[in-house]
Amino acid sequence: MKIAETIAEARRLREGLPGPVGLVPTMGFLHDGHLALIRRSRAENSLMVVSVFVNPAQFGPQEDFKTYPRDIERDLKILARENTDIVFLPSVEEMYPPGFDGWVDMGKIARRLEGASRPGHFRGVATVVAKLFNIVQPTKAYFGQKDAQQTIVIKKMVADLDMNLKVVTVPTVRETDGLAISSRNAYLNTEERQAAAVLYRSLCLGQQLWAEGEKGAGKIREQMTAFIQSEPFTTIDYVSIAEPETLEEMAVVKTPALVSLAVRIGKTRLIDNVVLE
Ligand code: PAF
Repeated sequence: MKIAETIAEARRLREGLPGPVGLVPTMGFLHDGHLALIRRSRAENSLMVVSVFVNPAQFGPQEDFKTYPRDIERDLKILARENTDIVFLPSVEEMYPPGFDGWVDMGKIARRLEGASRPGHFRGVATVVAKLFNIVQPTKAYFGQKDAQQTIVIKKMVADLDMNLKVVTVPTVRETDGLAISSRNAYLNTEERQAAAVLYRSLCLGQQLWAEGEKGAGKIREQMTAFIQSEPFTTIDYVSIAEPETLEEMAVVKTPALVSLAVRIGKTRLIDNVVLE
């Protein structure tokens, strides 16, 4: 396994190796959700590149950039065990040198849901992912369904800007009680961790109501909202039933539909989703 800390080094290592290249962009603190992406990439490509970069541009001024969990020693051990060929581990200065001022703005879909709650978030995500694609030139890049809107924004960026790669969405990995695995779960105390199972349970409730014949999106949102509010420590940011390409809210549920939510459990903001199809 080779470690590249500069863009020049990453390019040099990548150029020497032929065949399909899989890229898994991460912010480190690797967990089973990342492992699902890494193993899929390993299985589908002859060369696997994983980037580890906590991207300051996608965090708001009041968000957790400074305290975001990091453990690079552990990450490198995991990546070596998973037969990673190249780890790209740039510094903030390498990715955003003085004078940097070129941003990727993905328009309307980047301002809905997560984008409405976290202004500028997808500008930061799209910019860093575009840079990673340009540096690594992957054949395929791997993202988790848990961050559904992120994957939608990146797929649209690839289509709109004619980028030459395939974006692969990998299913969400869950704990036994259904909680989607996320680095931010590490912030939860024992009681909050128990309460956090309400996110997936409410998504299952939405799915069940729809399967039983309820097609009013407002009614489903209402029942999901009441269910989440019945759990202590919860503050709802949004509960959405939207068209999966435009992210426009639906009045009547038509498939496929993306049911997604963002809920604070104590101070920790968690997101999750399911697709009705
Ligand atoms: O999903 C993440 O971990 C990040 O948003 C990503 C895609 C690595 C960009 O910084």
